[in-house]
Amino acid sequence: MSEKVSICVIGSGYVGLVAAVCFAEMGHRVTCVDNDEPRVKTLNEGGVPIYEEHLPELLAKHRGRNVKFTCDLGAAVRRSEAIFIAVGTPQGDSGAADLSYVEAVVSEIARSIGDYKVIVEKSTVPVYTNEWICRVLHRYGVDPNSFDVVSNPEFLREGTAIGDFLHPDRIVVGAGTESAAEVMQRIYQPLTGGSYYSQPNALPGACSALHPAKLLVTSPQSSEIIKHASNAFLALKISFINAVGNLAEAVDADIEDIAAGIGLDSRIGPKFLRAGLGYGGSCFPKDVAAFHWVAQQCDVDFQLLEEVRKINETQRDVFYNKVLSALWTLRGKRLAALGLAFKGDTDDIRDSPAIEIVKKLLDAGALVSGFDPEAMERSKEILPPSETLNYASDIYEAARDTDAVLILTDWKAFATLDLQRLKQAVRFPIVIDGRNLYKPQTMLEHGFTYVSMGRPASHQDQLGQAAKQNARSRRESMVTPLSGRCLPFAPST
Ligand code: UDX
Ligand code: UDX
Repeated sequence: MSEKVSICVIGSGYVGLVAAVCFAEMGHRVTCVDNDEPRVKTLNEGGVPIYEEHLPELLAKHRGRNVKFTCDLGAAVRRSEAIFIAVGTPQGDSGAADLSYVEAVVSEIARSIGDYKVIVEKSTVPVYTNEWICRVLHRYGVDPNSFDVVSNPEFLREGTAIGDFLHPDRIVVGAGTESAAEVMQRIYQPLTGGSYYSQPNALPGACSALHPAKLLVTSPQSSEIIKHASNAFLALKISFINAVGNLAEAVDADIEDIAAGIGLDSRIGPKFLRAGLGYGGSCFPKDVAAFHWVAQQCDVDFQLLEEVRKINETQRDVFYNKVLSALWTLRGKRLAALGLAFKGDTDDIRDSPAIEIVKKLLDAGALVSGFDPEAMERSKEILPPSETLNYASDIYEAARDTDAVLILTDWKAFATLDLQRLKQAVRFPIVIDGRNLYKPQTMLEHGFTYVSMGRPASHQDQLGQAAKQNARSRRESMVTPLSGRCLPFAPST
């Protein structure tokens, strides 16, 4: 049986709250601290402040038993052996991560350290943060022998965070001493030894007692870089497929077939090759910027990351121009916005492409009816209902009497629409899909003009035929009669 460890998690957001309940699920004694008193009150009264699959069940199972919620950071630190810092690390103006919340929390920890503690960076932080935390603790006069600072980055995808935590591809620990590494190994022993997976009510997933989680121990700097490099590489894959998608569209190819074709290469893999509106959320945008900032500080040319960002930003304009091409003018047009969260299965709207598109449409004078299964309350905080923006009770209410339906977030509910019912609801049967949830042929068969990303549009109306003819004649001008190949664009004479 694995040993119980007393753990303090500071921050009860998308990362901290998931970490707290998962450590409790693994059998540890957890105190979760937050300086947001209403949030702590909600948690103690049985509320669930964020949307995550399995979170309500695990909170109900462990609240008041293996996990307690408090605002008293000092008491929590004193009774814990390991202190996980999981507060926000938002992007600052220069692109660097804003670590002011981390520093604020470290200064509070400094006042409460007595016996040996392991302080853990769970939040995504740039390389050398570990050294800075040590420096701040020294400045507060903390005995260097009474603590170690380790890096233990999270690789949690919102919507599947609980599963990602308990069935990780890998656990990364950046430790500078044997004693700190030993504490971390004890904490993760239920997963790396496999005993957690043998429990009768363990969360099912890829790991098992026979194939337990892997733990990689490295230096703090390497661990901090692993996190930024992982997110930057995933963002790179997405921007790559989107750039290929824009090229595919120019030659009437189909990015979904292209993604399938390259994804079958075991060295590439099929994941994170979904073309569309691009990435958003509280991680990829800020982590790509922070990683680029770190490289600049070290005088290392990592311009590739700037291209990743630029391609991603462009995707929102590509989509907006598709809406313009389909509708000609936007002022007074009624549009359904299906999806507000930055991706499906989450209520998070931080840096959501969907929200940005809705704002652009409203600025252009369109009337928008938005719907999202989970993110509407958070959306109303930054985009309150108005004469030009309403929040619908369901998909078909949002689509009623609209000039076009826009799919902005890849919720499963949007991929399984009742297309007959949708056609009866809309004013014009036009769907502009930013997440490629449908096959063009399916939409054509149901009488829709369907526009998506990186694929030929399928048109129902005459206007569409003219657009198709224009595209065809443009292509023909590029092909030589002999070779039949597309010439590179003729040099300007
Ligand atoms: C954040 C970052 O977004 C992510 O990149 C990093 O890996 C982990 O931290 P997230 O959980 O999404 O992840 O942050 P957020 O949802 O903002 O939650 C942070 C929590 O910390 C909030 O509940 C906030 O009230 C709390 N907090 C913040 C404190 O308790 N003390 C502070 O000083 C600052
Ligand atoms: C990401 C990382 O996956 C996770 O490991 C890290 O800890 C936090 O950041 P998250 O941001 O929650 O997780 O969501 P993810 O599923 O990675 O999607 C990120 C964004 O990329 C979303 O906006 C999504 O719509 C977009 N995306 C994802 C694509 O556009 N295409 C894809 O193929 C995959």
